[in-house]
Amino acid sequence: MNPQDYINIEDKYGAHNYHPLPVVLNKGEGVFVWDVTGKRYYDFLSSYSAVNQGHCHPKITKALVDQAKTLALTSRAFHNDVLGEYEKYVTEYFGYDKVLPMNTGAEGVETAMKLVRKWGYKVKGVEKNKAKIIFAKDNFHGRTISVISASNDPDATNDFGPFTPGIVSVQYNNLTALAKELEDPNVVAFIVEPIQGEAGVMVPDDGYLKKAFAMCKEKNVLFVADEIQTGIARTGKMLAVDYEGIKPDVLILGKALSGGSYPVSAVLADDDIMLTIKPGEHGSTYGGNPIAAKVAIAALEVVKEENLTENAFKMGEILRKELRSIDTDMITLVRGKGLLNAIIIKPKNGMEAWDVCLKLRDNGLLAKPTHGDIIRFAPPLVITEEQIMECVSIIKKTFAEIEK
Ligand SMILES: Cc1ncc(COP(=O)(O)O)c(C=O)c1O
Repeated sequence: MNPQDYINIEDKYGAHNYHPLPVVLNKGEGVFVWDVTGKRYYDFLSSYSAVNQGHCHPKITKALVDQAKTLALTSRAFHNDVLGEYEKYVTEYFGYDKVLPMNTGAEGVETAMKLVRKWGYKVKGVEKNKAKIIFAKDNFHGRTISVISASNDPDATNDFGPFTPGIVSVQYNNLTALAKELEDPNVVAFIVEPIQGEAGVMVPDDGYLKKAFAMCKEKNVLFVADEIQTGIARTGKMLAVDYEGIKPDVLILGKALSGGSYPVSAVLADDDIMLTIKPGEHGSTYGGNPIAAKVAIAALEVVKEENLTENAFKMGEILRKELRSIDTDMITLVRGKGLLNAIIIKPKNGMEAWDVCLKLRDNGLLAKPTHGDIIRFAPPLVITEEQIMECVSIIKKTFAEIEK
């Protein structure tokens, strides 16, 4: 089969809910992926920040394979000898009393929504079925009905209604708007991305999250951080909220919790919140399965053993500095933290962000546009300075070719 054959078969038999860049991959290692013709690329998306530890990390792969050969799934109907070890590890790692294990990011967000509602009724004393959750506009938290009920993106919501009630939206990075909604005593939580990833790496003002956190505390409202994309060293700190020195009441993790090898998500909270959910009230057949547990421990160990937080911080500084020095008027802005970055593209010579990504692909670097004019640059965090510089030359060469 040639590359087009693989694309055709997906097109014929798969739902058309994605618009992938035309490249067909069959191998990954570290910062690289290869296509079916053997061409090598730098991966500058990292599967939307899931592959922070690099593709097919040997330690994570070994954990997965070893556990898959031993015991893969027990469901939560029975105990197993791995879940407790993981629960202890992950809660100590992030400093919470308890974890609720799930699989995908959207499930993690759904779980957090249920948890804060439960807390609202059981602890805060909100009247039955009156709880409200505040979200930020332009968010991306996943694709389920309740999660898209908080979205204002027409692509995410059109013809998918009716939506889940009890959701209010406020402008991101706007404390006045937040303060107004916090006046409502039925508000139980504010759920927010510390940097809005899918919106195009929108970095809020310094102090926004810290102040928002303090305002929530004052009103007895839970501050929930969706760190599914920003967490686990991506932004140059273990969590993006670490830049502001706050500890969310509820923390949602996913993606890089498995280093991209398995769907693993988690909701972390202290006992006063987490223990409001009782047996039978929430769960998932695969959530916290033995493979997920072993993989997540390995993935988190790798982050510390290989100093990925420090590397993401350093490499991010270099990458942004180099991107800002590129001689083109097509790049109107470079923004980001650590290795979660984006450039804003002004179309030129009939070339838009999508065309830039096609040219980058031809030159050996894979990135994906978002919202038509934004390209995210988020390589695996194991990238070296030499590799960053090689990527910068690829990006420079690409813009030089377009400018010609
Ligand atoms: C901040 C954030 N939350 C939630 C999700 C949803 O995760 P999943 O695709 O695993 O459901 C994403 C995915 O991009 C995300 O970036």
